[in-house]
Order: sequence, then structure tokens, then C-alpha cells
Amino acid sequence: MSKSFSIALLEGDGIGPELSVEAVRVLEAVETISDVSFDIMKADFGGAAYFKHGQAFPEETKAICDKADAILKGPIGLSFEESKKIPVDEQPERGALLPLRRRYNTFANFRPVYLPPELAHFSPLKPHVVEGGIDLMMIRELVGGLYFGKKEVGVNAEGKRYVIEQLEYDEDQINAIMHVAFKESMGRKKVLHNVHKSNVLKSSVLWNEILDEVAPEYPEVEVKHIIVDAAATALVINPRQFDVMVMENMFGDILSDLGGGILGSLGLMPSACVGPDKAYYEPSHGSAPDIAGKGIANPYSMLGSVALMLDKSFGMKNESRKLWDAMRSVFGAGITTADLRDPEGKLTIMKTSEFGDKVVAALKG
Ligand code: IPM
Ligand code: MN
Repeated sequence: MSKSFSIALLEGDGIGPELSVEAVRVLEAVETISDVSFDIMKADFGGAAYFKHGQAFPEETKAICDKADAILKGPIGLSFEESKKIPVDEQPERGALLPLRRRYNTFANFRPVYLPPELAHFSPLKPHVVEGGIDLMMIRELVGGLYFGKKEVGVNAEGKRYVIEQLEYDEDQINAIMHVAFKESMGRKKVLHNVHKSNVLKSSVLWNEILDEVAPEYPEVEVKHIIVDAAATALVINPRQFDVMVMENMFGDILSDLGGGILGSLGLMPSACVGPDKAYYEPSHGSAPDIAGKGIANPYSMLGSVALMLDKSFGMKNESRKLWDAMRSVFGAGITTADLRDPEGKLTIMKTSEFGDKVVAALKG
């Protein structure tokens, strides 16, 4: 029996469209190696959508996302100059991305920091630090905290401009992300690092309290606590000690970029944003307007997001694994694109589409 899944494809800005082309080709290749077919529905989103429709997340796009089984999203965002042409609240991050996260309550953000031996040469860390590879999963709460808390901007009694941004969580939100983190740990090494700042923040005190309440449901998982600033240091000095890490929204934003630094590029950071009813998948990197249209961006983050979608939304574990392996084998053959590090100048540099060709061939082969 063949199955069919619908995908809303939001190509996004900058390098988004060129990465999306490769994603579609890979999905077509997956159709040939499985009994599944995909119905891909493109919709405008981000800066490009604003210039076309006057809204960064247009109603038509919402309708398409609502009916899709999953959403695949390219990077969004404009150059500093282009951004200034758009009212602050319609700029792609505030006008499209945060509303997308809120609409589908995609509270669980999975950001794999994955450095198998075939990618080791991209890491700026010393070989002895990354020896044996890195495979850790950062789990970032994605719809709470400072990002979605109350905001107030004004002038106080002394005539000074001020701003208040609140870091808000309730116990249900923390409970939900903790279960996600413990379940992920159960399927892996059963070691969970809890990243917090309870020496200063009350939000972390509640966070840790809820963790203590959830932990007994997962007695096999060993919990280790680490304060967020110390975690930043530890990630650089000894990233291999980590397996699953859980953290609130803003900590996760910052530490996951550090994860990209460990790998050598945010171009190596796919992600999954999962809600109770729907999930969307996106590279963790930006739209790189400076290199857009040149065909030099590596599609790995986008294709890795496809791999996460196959696994998490469509239950296609086998095909997902094959896609990861295909990408590993292409890097393993010394192939890269111009945007990634090539410290020794020994790699074969290909265009975005040629890199895609290689992945497709490996997937089919
Ligand atoms: C990310 C990005 C976003 C965030 C921006 C684009 C709003 O940096 O997904 O990490 O801060 O969450
Ligand atoms: Mn970020």
C-alpha cells in the first residue's frame, strides 16, 4: 500500500529558494526508494512574502500550512538594509517565524550537533577534542521564555527610555519539554544534561523543580545539571561528554549556534520544531543574503531537516537514515561547497546543485 504525505514548502529568503530546489530533488529521490509519495505545496513566507503580499506570513500560506502533514521551511531574513524597508513587526523574524512557532505550538526544537568522522575536517576544534565524533542533541524549548513574554517599551517618570521583556514559563510548558527530553534520552545514551541558571533566575528554579517531578517517571535516565555559562565552556572543551541537553528558549538559541561553531558552520545544523499536532523543519542558519543566488551554499542543513521530517513526521526511519548516510558519504568523498571551511585546501568544491546531485546519487545507489 503506498502512502502519500503533503508538505508545505516555505522557500524563504536569500539562499532559501536554492536550498529548496535540492530538498525537492531529494524528496523525489526518496519516492523512488520507498512506497511513499509526496505532495509538495509551495507557499510564500518571510521577507519575500512581505514584498509580494504586504505580510510576512500571508493568510494563503497559513491555509496551506494548516492542511499540510508537515512544513519544510527555508531560512528567512533580509539584509540589514532590506530589513529597514519593512515595519519592525512585519520583519520576517517577528512577522513570520515567531507567529509560525506560535500557531503550531512547536515547543520542542531538536537541534542535532552531529559530527561523524566524515565531517570532522569542518570542525575548528583540535582533532583530539572531536576524535571519535560528536553526536549530541540539543533540545530547546521554542515557544516560551523571553521570546514570547510580555514586552513593554516606554519612558519612565525621569524621562528615560526603558524596556521590559519578561521571561515567562508555566509549569505545563516546562513539563511538556521535559517529557520530550527524557523520551529522547531513553532512545539514546540515557544521560540528560539539564542546562539552567538557577543561581540567578527564578525561571530556572521552577524549571529544575519540574524536572525533579518528571524525572522519577524515567528512572533509567541519569540527570546531570549544568549552569548555562559553564555549559558554553564545556561544549568547547569537551563536547563529547554530552548526549541530550535540554534548555529554555533563549539559552537554546545561543548554545545551538555554539553547536554550529563546534561543527564548523551553521550550514551543518538542521532542526526540527515539533508541536502537539504539527511540526516544521528548518535549517538553524540564516538566509545568507551575501551569498544568495550564487549556488555556493551547502544544502546540508536543509537536507538534514528533510531527514528529520522523514523520521519524525512520516515515520520513515529507514529512509531518514539513508539520507543521513548519503550526505555523510558525499562529505566522506572529500566533496564540499565554497561556503564551508576547507582549512587544508584539499576538498573538491562543488556548486549547491552538484552537491545535491551527489546526495541524490548516493541515496539511490
Ligand atoms: C533560530 C533563529 C531565530 C531564533 C531567529 C531568526 C528569530 O536564530 O532559529 O535560532 O532566534 O529563534
Ligand atoms: Mn538562533
